[in-house]
Amino acid sequence: MLLVTGGAGFIGANFVLSAIAQTGEPVVNLDKLGYAGNLRNLESLRGDARHLFVRGDIGDRPLVRSLLARHRPRAIVHFAAESHVDRSIHGPAEFIQTNVVGTFSLLEEARAHWSALAGAERAGFRFLQVSTDEVYGSLGAHEAAFTESTPYAPNSPYSASKAGSDHLVRAYHHTYGLPTLTTHCSNNYGPYQFPEKLLPLMIERALAGEPLPVYGDGRNVRDWLYVLDHCTAIREVLARGRVGETYNVGGNCEMRNIDVVKLVCALLDEARPRPSGRYEELIAFVADRPGHDRRYAVDTAKIRGELGWQPAESFETGLRKTVHWYLEHRDWVSEVTSGAYRNWVEANYAVRGAA
Ligand code: NAD
Ligand code: DAU
Repeated sequence: MLLVTGGAGFIGANFVLSAIAQTGEPVVNLDKLGYAGNLRNLESLRGDARHLFVRGDIGDRPLVRSLLARHRPRAIVHFAAESHVDRSIHGPAEFIQTNVVGTFSLLEEARAHWSALAGAERAGFRFLQVSTDEVYGSLGAHEAAFTESTPYAPNSPYSASKAGSDHLVRAYHHTYGLPTLTTHCSNNYGPYQFPEKLLPLMIERALAGEPLPVYGDGRNVRDWLYVLDHCTAIREVLARGRVGETYNVGGNCEMRNIDVVKLVCALLDEARPRPSGRYEELIAFVADRPGHDRRYAVDTAKIRGELGWQPAESFETGLRKTVHWYLEHRDWVSEVTSGAYRNWVEANYAVRGAA
């Protein structure tokens, strides 16, 4: 079985759902249910003996120790993190606590557990760190895409905290021999993404007839990958990745933010036309994110060449599915956009005004 951390969040929940559906392998899911964690994401697994949900913090060492001892997972797949760049700018402390200190605690417990294993159980054990392309920093318009040997240059408290945790993972392999694997993925999109992130935020604001806040000049570039393709990549790396190695994961789909927002608007025009006008008319350029990385691009030659992984979804098909998912899951959206969510939106966007 697998021990998944952060499996009630966006990517973690998609991973748990797809792993159980496709392989049947049981999952112990450890998540503290912070603002982005939601048991509704896992509703279809209610009563399913292959899924054990445990509410708790990755920094709770006795809890992690007892889960490892009781369930003897063949791997830890570590998603749990504070994940939103804007929140890390407003309040970095929690990012250091969970992403750095929390990962350190988890590594310590993983090391103690693995050290006591023997034979095939010890040889097969893996610790998979789910990291991000943001640790590599920002690219100029004509620079080559990030490879696994691009030096780290994190620019936000979020990416710095992820970089810190990656370095610990690397050190635990190098020093203690812990069998680690690390993935660096680009921007994910798809079902269950908390509507603080670009795509669901734009869908929700458009449906509410509110301004669509594009930071700066809207020409920052991100690479986009459908979340289930990321989940497949993680399963491939877990199954056949070389211990101690890092693997970049991406959609080979670089897009300017403004073009992404216009595509969302066009899909909504088609699916849910406004009584008057087009959704694009709601676009409003607002003050930029401090330290905003200009461009990310990911070279995925290694994972393609070594493991034969490639995305199944194109941006066009994935985006269409995603927009329709949000249109069809209004209950989920109203549940997560509660009081705390509204306070965040007010704090982040009230200060921005028009650029
Ligand atoms: P998310 O914010 O939607 O989910 C994070 C989950 O972790 C939540 O369920 C939360 O409750 C849980 N969590 C947070 N702190 C915890 C703690 N101390 N103990 C236990 N659980 C805790 O994030 P996401 O977008 O699903 O990202 C998951 C992982 O993937 C993160 O590590 C992130 O850095 C990485 N990643 C994300 C993207 C992306 O585009 N979203 C891309 C590349 C990598
Ligand atoms: O690259 C991988 C990373 O992608 C992950 O590691 C992070 O966890 C994930 O949050 C994401 O980070 P970004 O900062 O790229 O995602 P976000 O959705 O916050 O923003 C995407 C782009 O859109 C970015 O250039 C900022 C811009 N943006 C975002 C918001 C929320 C806007 O223009 N307006 C907005 O309101």
